[in-house]
Amino acid sequence: MRGIVKRFPGVLANDRIDFDVRAGEIHALLGENGAGKTTLMNILYGLYRPDQGQILLNGRAVAIHSPADAIRLGIGMIHQHFMLVPTLSVAENVALGLPSSRGFLLDLDVVTRRIRELSNVYGLRVDPTAMVWQLAVGEQQRVEILKALYRGADLLILDEPTAVLTPQEVRELFATLRRMAGEGHSLIFISHKLHEVLSISDRVTVLRDGRVVKTLPTSEATREELARLMVGREVLLRVERSPVELGDVRLSLKDLWAHGDKGVPALRGVTLAVRAGEILGIAGVSGNGQRELAEVIAGLRTPSQGQVEIDGMDTTGWSPERLLKHGLAYIPEERMRDGVVRDFSVEENLILKDHVDRPFASGIFMNFGTIASYADRLIENFDIRTPSRDAPLKNLSGGNIQKIVLARELSREPRVLVAAQPTRGVDISATEYIHQRLIAQRAKGTATLLISEDLDEILNLSDRIAVMYEGQIVGVVDQREATVEQLGLMMAGAHKV
Ligand SMILES: Nc1ncnc2c1ncn2[C@@H]1O[C@H](COP(=O)(O)OP(=O)(O)OP(=O)(O)O)[C@@H](O)[C@H]1O
Ligand SMILES: [Mg+2]
Repeated sequence: MRGIVKRFPGVLANDRIDFDVRAGEIHALLGENGAGKTTLMNILYGLYRPDQGQILLNGRAVAIHSPADAIRLGIGMIHQHFMLVPTLSVAENVALGLPSSRGFLLDLDVVTRRIRELSNVYGLRVDPTAMVWQLAVGEQQRVEILKALYRGADLLILDEPTAVLTPQEVRELFATLRRMAGEGHSLIFISHKLHEVLSISDRVTVLRDGRVVKTLPTSEATREELARLMVGREVLLRVERSPVELGDVRLSLKDLWAHGDKGVPALRGVTLAVRAGEILGIAGVSGNGQRELAEVIAGLRTPSQGQVEIDGMDTTGWSPERLLKHGLAYIPEERMRDGVVRDFSVEENLILKDHVDRPFASGIFMNFGTIASYADRLIENFDIRTPSRDAPLKNLSGGNIQKIVLARELSREPRVLVAAQPTRGVDISATEYIHQRLIAQRAKGTATLLISEDLDEILNLSDRIAVMYEGQIVGVVDQREATVEQLGLMMAGAHKV
């Protein structure tokens, strides 16, 4: 890609970008939220047209006007939000949209056979006859990769593929990516996790404000250097936690049971207490009840048994609105689905749940001046990259949308905070800021339940760590005594000794 320029209203998303990928190479694309990574890849995949610049494939200039053009040229893209049809089988999804001479049904056998071949070559475990709605997130991603390979992709773009995967699934994905590179495929890999970039890529290109800051071989890169290139200053990769005097129990869970979406018990007798000034980390491989636990506390899922108490009041079964007024803030894991309204503006999303209350409204009147200055302050503090507070939310980059939910929830000064995967999809300077805010909230006496798959995050922030496995708490350890090895064993189901 040569001299690529892309403008959106009020934003220069790509500013004369030069970027190349070699055969058999894994090239990582790094940059803060809004740096222009997805835009550049959407141009390569034919979703956007560049205002200027050229794309050359194997030395020849090509015109890519649509994803169909890109696919024909051997370019595939795995988006962060999957685009499979849930009610069809894996084989049907792979075959979807392919030209077929003998009709869709007849080809399905051929497709199934080819999927099995590709699965074997690249180590992608998938059952071609399974229905997509039954698949876990990691399996759906494997189907997307198979679909691209099936269509003959030589160049595969992966936009934050690991954001939704468990550590085990990340290891499997990396093994597949290495095999693909070994077969001569070119891969572009986007991630905010520096250790992933360092372990999987051959070269790294860092973008900042729409420009290339540097392209370097990964063997010459360090975490600190990459962080500095991305952010333009030194980044603290650790947070300072000073001791806090613990207060009363603010959140208490008593023998909670609940069903998951598929009807099977997801919580099986969870009992925990979090005090004022304490961060209790919940570690565990995702899918072990963490999501259901958060939803029960936040009033989004009804427990089949047990009690939730906030500030000594039984809040079991309360509505989310009532819980909010009672001092609960909630950062949901699925922020795109549960946290924002895509067609509202940035400002409207920042005051989403508070718009009828003081100081934003008195009686039926909205205080527009107060709202505007409040929104501007949050945009500034959380470094939300947006042309203005009036911009529609859907135009923001993925990470900046995440920051809006975090800004809104952390700014309530909650008595109890439930934070699920708070830094997923956000860049390292935002991660640093969010960690500081969680620590600051702790010093002010908030009781925080921190759910995260990132063990470093759990270890850095928590005072105590509870490990969840198959809907139960298998043990609670003090942060000062916890080790990664011990937590890892407990996450696999071993009880605390
Ligand atoms: N369709 C669009 N309309 C208007 N502005 C857009 C659109 N798509 C992207 N932008 C803007 O272009 C800039 C770059 O966004 P992009 O999505 O490429 O960032 P990114 O590097 O992928 O960030 P993230 O890590 O958060 O995903 C952002 O300022 C974003 O708001
Ligand atoms: Mg992006």
